[in-house]
Amino acid sequence: MLTTEQNKMITQVGAGTPMGELLRRYWIPFAGASEFDDKPVRAVRLLGEDLVAYRAGNGTFGLLNRHCPHRRADLSYGFVEDCGLRCNYHGWMMDEAGHVIEMPYDDTANPAQNLKAKASTKAYPVKEVAGLLFTYMGPAPVPELPVWAPFTWTGGFRQIVKSDIPCNWFQCQENSCDPVHFEWMHDNWSARLEGRSDNATKHLQLDFVETDYGHAYRRIREGQAEGSTLWTVGRLALWPLAFYLGEHFEWRVPVDDENTLSIAWFFESAPKDVAPVVQEKVPVWISPIVDADGRWITTHVINQDIVAWVGQGRIADRSQEFLAASDRGIVMMRRRYFEDMKRVEQGLDPKGVIRDPQVARCVPLDRVLLPPLPGDLTREQWKKHPGLSRKLIDHRHCAGQPAKVRQDYLRAMGFGPDLSLLPNVGRELQPQD
Ligand code: FES
Ligand SMILES: [Fe+2]
Repeated sequence: MLTTEQNKMITQVGAGTPMGELLRRYWIPFAGASEFDDKPVRAVRLLGEDLVAYRAGNGTFGLLNRHCPHRRADLSYGFVEDCGLRCNYHGWMMDEAGHVIEMPYDDTANPAQNLKAKASTKAYPVKEVAGLLFTYMGPAPVPELPVWAPFTWTGGFRQIVKSDIPCNWFQCQENSCDPVHFEWMHDNWSARLEGRSDNATKHLQLDFVETDYGHAYRRIREGQAEGSTLWTVGRLALWPLAFYLGEHFEWRVPVDDENTLSIAWFFESAPKDVAPVVQEKVPVWISPIVDADGRWITTHVINQDIVAWVGQGRIADRSQEFLAASDRGIVMMRRRYFEDMKRVEQGLDPKGVIRDPQVARCVPLDRVLLPPLPGDLTREQWKKHPGLSRKLIDHRHCAGQPAKVRQDYLRAMGFGPDLSLLPNVGRELQPQD
């Protein structure tokens, strides 16, 4: 339980707030690079700031104040040129560093005055890794962008999935250190939704450990194999706003105090009898969270999580909660956020900031390995495997995967390009699910 004041501290993300300042010490993902292929200028709201992201003709990404430095026009209606973003009102052009590089009328009428040298706008750096765009919104010196080891994996299929969630980011992130909800929200509730009354194996023991880059939770469930990496390694609540599960990451990115961007990155190794995949672009798609009746979608894993998060209220009131033994990891994380807010106030680096480029270029993360791994099996073995065969039918985590992405995924896994395979695969596999 937190006091109302503590709850404010831990949930508010604006500039100048303690948590807002803490989060501004990290690189934060905000989009997929391929989103800019057909629409090179996009409005972005991050940590309560209205921004505009663009990809210039020369391929450089920029992230600027959404309002033009001249007379505040909306730059998300601007247009890109070779080396910058031009405002549609009077034609000023800005580069990715926030310099005004053209002022058409002044440059023509008073070129000697070079007024543009005195104008500038807010600009944040943007870097692309594994198809994701990250920005850093904090003070200099800018830390290194960690390249997590899975970003360097090859020979598989990557995809990025986004959803807009109408609640505060912190209740989403607390879910990253909450193992017991798997048994209930994803296992038992899914069974009820499918008309079944069976219960999943119970959690018997939990452990929570702080690591260099986050907080791991470890679990033992009934019947779990001895030495399972679910107990020896566990899942990682990746500091400060992500969840790492081995072959995928989920970030809970604060849009503002009452809205969160869920952005997830997935990697799938192909079966071992398939030629390695070469993916030119990482597809990005939007997963809907509301169905035709206006109810939350409940069919997929992340959608189920979202039902929990939005159900806690726009900003969960932690002065009204009653914590139990399953919440030890959450208590541990909260304590660390409060300590880190203090560190930032004192001018110190908070947890996990990387300043050494050699360390940042490929940061290993321990992961849960539940054999057999997808890349260890052939296509035929995939079809017969309960977990992997499900993946051929649907993307398990997020609702609404576009047909084109599904088609590309199946091709990459060696099951395409004949799309008619898809329903056949479903029928064929149902008895074994
Ligand atoms: S408001 Fe943008 S150029 Fe005038
Ligand atoms: Fe979950």
